[in-house]
Amino acid sequence: MSQIFVRPAVAGERAALEALQWRASLNNPNDRDALLANPDAIELPLQQILDGEVFVAEQAGQIKGFSAVVPRTDGDSELDALFVEPECWRHGIGRALVEHAAEAVVATGANHIHVIANPHAERFYTACGFEATGVEKTRFGIGLLMRKAVR
Ligand SMILES: CC(C)(COP(=O)(O)OP(=O)(O)OC[C@H]1O[C@@H](n2cnc3c(N)ncnc32)[C@H](O)[C@@H]1OP(=O)(O)O)[C@@H](O)C(=O)NCCC(=O)NCCS
Repeated sequence: MSQIFVRPAVAGERAALEALQWRASLNNPNDRDALLANPDAIELPLQQILDGEVFVAEQAGQIKGFSAVVPRTDGDSELDALFVEPECWRHGIGRALVEHAAEAVVATGANHIHVIANPHAERFYTACGFEATGVEKTRFGIGLLMRKAVR
């Protein structure tokens, strides 16, 4: 398996990243019908890319996943998106994106990186060092509030 390289996304990649998000999200059991009924839920804001908040993971020159990391009003950071090509799951790409995000937010003064986790991803986030802090009702069900210390 070749090396995973994480870099900022560029605006011209927006459509490709949204397509990747579709493929990843539709592979979560039980989410499929709700997403197909609410296609507006899949959107990568162009401004996030322009603001340098979106990072892509490449392997052998091909995009395999991406993250979006946005600032919070409390000074911490929020993992607003994290998606990996389903055919590449369990090869360390999600972990590489989390580790890159955790390192990147240190410079902003953040103490934690937070996520509202899809319950399907709970074991992934736990494996990446996140701890549960609560739950929140989301548009499609329950989200798990989790956070990871970055310093
Ligand atoms: C969640 C997601 C980003 C994980 O990406 P990934 O590249 O497969 O994750 P990694 O390979 O880096 O996994 C790191 C570790 O997390 C754990 N893990 C990952 N997926 C897991 C699963 N389905 N079940 C149990 N543990 C899991 C494992 O400990 C894994 O290490 P291992 O493979 O050596 O055992 C990916 O499955 C995805 O895109 N899912 C659909 C979209 C989604 O739900 N995103 C999260 C929104 S909050």
